[in-house]
Amino acid sequence: MTMATLAPEPAGTSAPAELDAATLRQAFGAYPTGVVAISAMRGDEPVGFAASSFVSISLQPPMVAVSVARTSTTWPRLAQAPLLGLSVLSHGQGALCRRLASREGRRFDGVAWSSTPEGAVLIEDAALWLTARVGATYDGGDHEIVLLELISVELFDGVEPLVFHTSQFRELLPHA
Ligand SMILES: Cc1cc2nc3c(=O)[nH]c(=O)nc-3n(C[C@H](O)[C@H](O)[C@H](O)COP(=O)(O)O)c2cc1C
Repeated sequence: MTMATLAPEPAGTSAPAELDAATLRQAFGAYPTGVVAISAMRGDEPVGFAASSFVSISLQPPMVAVSVARTSTTWPRLAQAPLLGLSVLSHGQGALCRRLASREGRRFDGVAWSSTPEGAVLIEDAALWLTARVGATYDGGDHEIVLLELISVELFDGVEPLVFHTSQFRELLPHA
């Protein structure tokens, strides 16, 4: 078992050396999440990426949030879109998720998607569709925390979500 400690430290100093990126990736990966495809039309092309940092925030007003890497080349293009599509990927969509995260090739080749009149792109066979407008953003270190104001919700009952845990895609099983 590896144990990295988070010792209290005076403000203004850097993080303890043992909290290196590899340790933190492993630690964060111990927390299971779903994965959401965030996509919109830019010109004639769908643009999007996969995000596991999706989290529900507020019922009134309806809001969710994602944390976006400051290095993302896709986000600056999406942030300009009038409406974003958020598709909660379903249990069979692990390969599709990798594709939507890859830096090579055309991400949407071979992916079944549709777009709304306002240009939100939604992935077919997902477990949930949301559309949202970009709201306030907050500093999140090497990520930017982005609030998304929900405009519409379409839930596909009975479609099981994809689960991401310890860098692997998994499926939900009922508790025995
Ligand atoms: C399962 C999974 C979850 C991801 N979650 C996030 C995330 O929450 N935020 C983020 O900025 N990138 C996330 N990524 C990385 C992006 O999908 C994508 O690879 C990244 O944006 C780099 O591409 P870009 O330069 O086109 O933006 C995730 C990738 C995978 C495979």
